[in-house]
Amino acid sequence: MKKTIKDLDLKGKKVIIRCDFNVPIKNGRITDDNRIKESLRTIKYAIRHSAKIILISHLGRVKTLEDKDKYSLKPVALRLSELLNRKVIFVDDYKGKKVENAIDKMKNRSVVLLENTRFADLDGNKESGNDKALGKYWASLGDIFINEAFGTAHRSHASNVGIASNLPSAIGFLMEKEIKFLSLKIKRPYTVVLGGAKVSDKIGVINALAAKADYVLIGGAMAFTFLKASGFNVGGSLVQTDEIDYCYDVLNKYEDKIVLPIDVVTAKEIKSGVKTNLRFVNEIEEDEIGLDIGRGTIKVFKQYLDDSKTIFWNGPVGYFELSEFSLGTKMLLDIVSKTSATTIIGGGDTGSAAINMGYQDKITHISTGGGASLKYLEGKELPGIDVIDEK
Ligand code: 3PG
Repeated sequence: MKKTIKDLDLKGKKVIIRCDFNVPIKNGRITDDNRIKESLRTIKYAIRHSAKIILISHLGRVKTLEDKDKYSLKPVALRLSELLNRKVIFVDDYKGKKVENAIDKMKNRSVVLLENTRFADLDGNKESGNDKALGKYWASLGDIFINEAFGTAHRSHASNVGIASNLPSAIGFLMEKEIKFLSLKIKRPYTVVLGGAKVSDKIGVINALAAKADYVLIGGAMAFTFLKASGFNVGGSLVQTDEIDYCYDVLNKYEDKIVLPIDVVTAKEIKSGVKTNLRFVNEIEEDEIGLDIGRGTIKVFKQYLDDSKTIFWNGPVGYFELSEFSLGTKMLLDIVSKTSATTIIGGGDTGSAAINMGYQDKITHISTGGGASLKYLEGKELPGIDVIDEK
């Protein structure tokens, strides 16, 4: 068993807490603060136990200098101050003199948030490549490392694995809760619902999930690569051409388990107010994009979901940010919330949809990790958890 924050004496210590504050931000405004709220228990615990709290996180994928404006963690520091009702000192750098001076000045119970760890990726991919020197440097800033970033636990980066390899370490309350729910005994029938836009991240795990589950219901953007592999013309829908053969093989191997949409909602472009059409999957026109599952598909999916004892759902089944394409996700949330099954929702977007649409209290567990929860249920070890000290 992994050590938890409760196993360590925090008093007067500089405690580095790696959070996953990778939250959606539009025009400087956080549109979903669930990941921040979920980290509060651990941060408050460290405050109560008189630690000096150094928070770190990534935000977005930083590739160019322009990304630095888009992906600053400053709005997170402000939101965190409001939620904690205390000052959170934001340091607009992730290493160097500014960081070291701010930490030197810390008193017990003070909270500092450093700038986005992925800014280090502009310097030769040092964060994402788990640069040894960077992990060591960040570890040198503290006495104890707490990994609370479940959403990033499937990544082996300098700010999780790198630091933990150089300091006494433990997991926080959120990480503990995630492990508890994702380790619940699976009762059958076990149905997995997969959707979402990060197709390349997920498509590879379908094989493993199909082997474990009784049914895999596929919606969202991912469905179109499968429909294409089944021989349908999907018009302008998102297709990952390099994965068509893979999808074809998976469909052949698990034809009795994988359930694809029979109808979809299409439009000629992705924008609010656009004219939509309901099409059977063999009727999609060349200039149409599939953006949600249709009513017939919802009915088919319902039969499987009503019958299930365990449901794991990762990824919205439509472009739910626009009301024109949100019905599938909303209806499935409604169906899932009314079943007697153990229900687990994984992924920032699906979690956001569940919370925004008012289903938070009707789901057994909403995970803060998309890719991480998928990997966990696939049975893979997650490097960000694996590296933490045992009790
Ligand atoms: C997520 O949102 O899935 C995590 O924060 C990890 O982000 P990443 O996919 O950019 O590594």
